[in-house]
Amino acid sequence: MDPKGETMEQELYSDARLYDLLFPADEAAVDFYRGEADGKGERVLELGCGTGHKLIPVAADGHQSVGLDLAPDMLAEAQRKANERGVSVEWRHGDMRDFDLDREFDLIFIAANALLHLHRADDIVQCFRAVRRHLAPGGRFAFDVFSPNVRLLAGADGTRRPRTSFTDPDRGVVRVDVDDTYDAAAQVTRGTWYFSTDSEPDFQKVSLEVRSIFPQELPVLLERGGLRLVERFGDWDRVPFTSDSSMQLCVCESDA
Ligand SMILES: C[S@@+](CC[C@H](N)C(=O)[O-])C[C@H]1O[C@@H](n2cnc3c(N)ncnc32)[C@H](O)[C@@H]1O
Repeated sequence: MDPKGETMEQELYSDARLYDLLFPADEAAVDFYRGEADGKGERVLELGCGTGHKLIPVAADGHQSVGLDLAPDMLAEAQRKANERGVSVEWRHGDMRDFDLDREFDLIFIAANALLHLHRADDIVQCFRAVRRHLAPGGRFAFDVFSPNVRLLAGADGTRRPRTSFTDPDRGVVRVDVDDTYDAAAQVTRGTWYFSTDSEPDFQKVSLEVRSIFPQELPVLLERGGLRLVERFGDWDRVPFTSDSSMQLCVCESDA
């Protein structure tokens, strides 16, 4: 609460504990990225690594791993979890649109829609160019983003609706409402997420904005970034991407 007694709206990524409760690790996603880093001792970079859901298991498999993120709180939690598991990862603070790690990687990945925090087409292309500069010859770039569903986007009309719930060991059951709005020109969904328990209504509010990348624009953005889409799956079990897929799971390589 702020001094006036009102809950301050804050970004989700300044509260890593809340993030991990809201979005716990998805084992199918972890297995996919572990599988992509399948060789021995690969050099792996995750951009927008968050609290390390994917990168810590990848590093535990014996790969030299670097995780880059913009949010200090997420990186601090990632570091704490890696230390707890005795796993070595190099955590770097930085922006996925503009970074220079002065080395190359066999696998670079961006998981769990993290790419969608870049809203302008030029930001996404800038990120792809930075990825290409860091890819070793024969290296792969993988990422997952949701596939925009026009029915869901049309429903994002600013009305506050229940979205999900989870159990917080300290607070008990937490209900989450969201009141998002879709900006069609920007292709960005903007919303506030409201967290409540029976005794503490709206004890926390966080804002979240995510872009939609439509299926036909995705390969064009990659091309502008010097990358080529090699495979696009519709799910973690590598089924082909179709109109019914809820996600676009992409594997790319450098166009050079
Ligand atoms: C949805 S979380 C995904 C975290 C992690 N990849 C996972 O699979 O759990 C998005 C992450 O992207 C990070 N992020 C957002 N914009 C970024 C940027 N421009 N550069 C680097 N990281 C960014 C956020 O701080 C957050 O940790």
